[in-house]
Amino acid sequence: MKRVIIGITGATGTIYGWRLMEMLREEGETEIHLVMSASAKLTLKMEHDIDPGYINSLAHEVHAPGNIGASISSGSFSSAGMIIAPCSIKTMSNIAMGNTGDLISRAADVILKERRKLVIAIRETPLHAGHLENLIKLANLGSVIFPPVPAFYNRPKTLEEIVDQSCMRMLDQLEINLETAPRWGEEGGVPAVGQKGASVQSV
Ligand SMILES: Cc1cc2nc3c(=O)[nH]c(=O)nc-3n(C[C@H](O)[C@H](O)[C@H](O)COP(=O)(O)O)c2cc1C
Repeated sequence: MKRVIIGITGATGTIYGWRLMEMLREEGETEIHLVMSASAKLTLKMEHDIDPGYINSLAHEVHAPGNIGASISSGSFSSAGMIIAPCSIKTMSNIAMGNTGDLISRAADVILKERRKLVIAIRETPLHAGHLENLIKLANLGSVIFPPVPAFYNRPKTLEEIVDQSCMRMLDQLEINLETAPRWGEEGGVPAVGQKGASVQSV
């Protein structure tokens, strides 16, 4: 079974983190390691009437954010990669600067040094030059900068459809290809521009 680390931080959009885990559970071929920051727990409470116990139950192993000695803080722990969704500016900046004082930033730093896949679903707007400089640093270190920006060509009707499309694309980055949203130009998906019934119309 491959392993994936999911980090959830205190940026708005905690749904991305738990929906990723629900999708991986539906897939059933991935061992999920979860670490949630203290702020993520606060934000989750503000955003959803959801039992934090349910979020934990989606993971095969839950790591405390202060547990620097957890398995995922070592390069010898093999994994397909890590997705931080949503990722706050604080955690993103810590990773960019090599400040690894908590488990999310330490696990992310390990992923980078081991040349594995790190997907950062940064969630803030607008961004100032300092944010952008840190994001450039991370991009140069090989991480995938993945702001969860919705697509509209698939004509989403619900929040879930918007979230699922971004989550599917995040998992694509780890070569976990699920069909939880339409894919452009594919059968059963969204017709490519120019095909009959294409969703993008010229104005
Ligand atoms: C409801 C709520 C929404 C927030 N949204 C964001 C956000 O979108 N982006 C961000 O960078 N910080 C956001 N914050 C602030 C972070 O939670 C805060 O910077 C925190 O220290 C991040 O810590 P963490 O990275 O350890 O989770 C939000 C805070 C709250 C309470």
